Amino acid sequence: AIAAAIVPAAGSGVRLGPGTPKALRPLNGTPLLVHAVRALARARAIGLVVVVAPPDRTEAVRALLDQQPAPPPVEQMVVPGGATRQESVRLGLAAVPESIEVVLVHDAARPLVPVDTVDAVVAAVRAGAPAVVPALPVTDTVKQVGPAPEGRLPGGPEPVVGTPDRSLLRAVQTPQGFDRATLAKAHELHADATGATGATDDAALVERLGVPVVLVPGHEEAFKVTRPLDLVLAEAVLARRRL
Ligand code: CTP
Ligand code: MG
Repeated sequence: AIAAAIVPAAGSGVRLGPGTPKALRPLNGTPLLVHAVRALARARAIGLVVVVAPPDRTEAVRALLDQQPAPPPVEQMVVPGGATRQESVRLGLAAVPESIEVVLVHDAARPLVPVDTVDAVVAAVRAGAPAVVPALPVTDTVKQVGPAPEGRLPGGPEPVVGTPDRSLLRAVQTPQGFDRATLAKAHELHADATGATGATDDAALVERLGVPVVLVPGHEEAFKVTRPLDLVLAEAVLARRRL
């Protein structure tokens, strides 16, 4: 049985700076989302990729992907996204046929994920885990801060509340893989187009169901393009691959 991948690509990329929506920005001349779709299509298990496009760019994204079809038998679909990542994933999931039991969610903003990471996530779901997340140890020490003190200016000093034990922290990536019914239930129970519930990944919604989430090793090259420096790093990774 094939697995499907949902690719949320409807964000604007505020932290990357002004310009076209982030998923459409070029990396070595090719839009980030095309890199991401290709990376997923390289996995034998993936039979369907659902790209969730900026709502005002759905036709443009459809045309872009038609120009660069994934190698058969991989099918591509494009649906319009929502105001938050969570809403975009929900809209993508609605387009996945009921018969597909393994669903991955992969950020368009992670264009360089290695196929081995995709394969490892699919394999863990197929082996029976309802929710699988690729993760890496955290390299920076992380501080917890309190609410902003009265009159604090942006960039001004912030009081520290504590320092969590770094050995117990992990930085998580995508693709996150799910048993389809679990992901659908998680999104139904927490449908929230405003993003007020603040989930920044899909596994967090599954955790709220009380369903176990497990981690598998992530990969450095699965990093998310968020700020301008990340694009510099992505170009360098691609150049190194071509050597
Ligand atoms: N995303 C989405 N729909 C939204 C917001 C985000 O599909 N309404 C997608 C983005 O396109 C991206 C992924 O979710 O592929 C991860 O989000 P993030 O890195 O935060 O991207 P943006 O929201 O575009 O960036 P920013 O937060 O800097 O504006
Ligand atoms: Mg965002």
